[in-house]
Amino acid sequence: MPLTISVFGTGYLGATHAAGMAELGHRVIGVDVDEAKIARLSRGEVPFYEPGLPELLRKHVESGRLTFTTDATLAAAEADVHFIGVGTPQRKGEYAADMTYVDAVIETLAPLLTRPAVILGKSTVPVGTAARLAQRVRELAPVGDAAELGWNPEFLREGFAVEDTLRPDRLVLGVDKDRPGRIEEVAREVYAEILERDTPFLVTDLATAELVKVSANAFLATKISFINAIAEVCEVTGADVTELADAIGYDDRIGRKFLGAGLGFGGGCLPKDIRAFMARAGELGVDQALTFLREVDAVNLRRRQHVVDLATRLVGGSLDGARVAVLGAAFKPNSDDVRDSPALDVAGALHLRGAKVKVHDPEANANAAAVWPTLEFHDSVAAACADADLVVIGTEWRQFREADPAALAGEVAHARVIDGRNCLPVEDWQAAGWDYHGMGRFA
Ligand code: UGA
Repeated sequence: MPLTISVFGTGYLGATHAAGMAELGHRVIGVDVDEAKIARLSRGEVPFYEPGLPELLRKHVESGRLTFTTDATLAAAEADVHFIGVGTPQRKGEYAADMTYVDAVIETLAPLLTRPAVILGKSTVPVGTAARLAQRVRELAPVGDAAELGWNPEFLREGFAVEDTLRPDRLVLGVDKDRPGRIEEVAREVYAEILERDTPFLVTDLATAELVKVSANAFLATKISFINAIAEVCEVTGADVTELADAIGYDDRIGRKFLGAGLGFGGGCLPKDIRAFMARAGELGVDQALTFLREVDAVNLRRRQHVVDLATRLVGGSLDGARVAVLGAAFKPNSDDVRDSPALDVAGALHLRGAKVKVHDPEANANAAAVWPTLEFHDSVAAACADADLVVIGTEWRQFREADPAALAGEVAHARVIDGRNCLPVEDWQAAGWDYHGMGRFA
């Protein structure tokens, strides 16, 4: 039976979840404190780049099944289920997660709950948060124990957010085992259509559900840094990390996915999640258990420095005055997200060392310019590459992978490329006269 659902937070996670829940047949109210964002979403506009989301959002705004508001009172009065999808960014100057936004949702929503309701947290939070919030909800809600809280972590990837929301590979639900209440039953109603397809549904205690999420991201980050550490060894031995990754990836205990050596991981999740996980382990007195994540972080950041050092060498020892084209600013393709973006970080570092940096990203120019207003941004690959002494591929957009190396060789001053994502067809580029430098290969 269709439910009325509210989703607090309308960023990459919340907006996608809201549209996804409407697609599953529910009536959905998206709630955010940002009036401008709510106004745009209400007109059916997505304020960020996510393939497939504009169509889905418009479909359900037009059908009337999906509405947006800044008024939490409305959501509290109408919805049976409330999702929390606000951000938990890294705290300024610390590793720990900033819980301000999650806490604010609870402090706003719980006192408004005058009828039974289930709150399901989706945000990535330090273990122990859900138990604390469940207690707080019971204290604040006029309905008392009839306001229940569970944790339902989200595993969606930017760029595939719609697909991951509608066809997740698993659903995880954390409940307080001493007070199971109605949470599982309600979650089964919310996700009925997904569960009909035999999607694995794991019901755990609250702490396990919270830890599943951060462990998954920590594992992915570790896998990427593992192959990047091997890339460092390949670079001094003349070995090829991509062939190596293919070879070990055939072992299905290892698997080829997330063994893409290159500039490393960025974005709003992996970097801050491993740091918050270390911070939380420290608070719990088990910091040694996660010391390896410090190394995962260090390997990851060293890749960016490696590209800057390689660029310096290739242009003759000093970046001062060198003309460098950086292709890509988003932290990964099919996204306009520049949070902790390796590509943008490298562009900025080259610029600070005196290079004249021209950047082109198919979707992220505007977001990148807001972070680095002193970089030059261009609307096309050709414009960014004009007269360049060096081209750096920072994000593996299809447009760059499929660019014509011969045509591009005619635009630049020196046909020299650092393929920071090992994504170019090497032989084609070399045949077109390019001096090609990969990551962990062709050293
Ligand atoms: C990540 C997780 O993959 C999602 O499961 C999770 O839900 C999400 O974080 C989250 O916590 O919200 P996302 O940040 O969208 O998703 O990006 P990923 O696709 O995981 O890529 C992360 C970074 O790793 C990118 O910068 C990407 O370029 C890099 N990467 C990925 C590599 O350097 N090599 C690889 O082989 C794979």
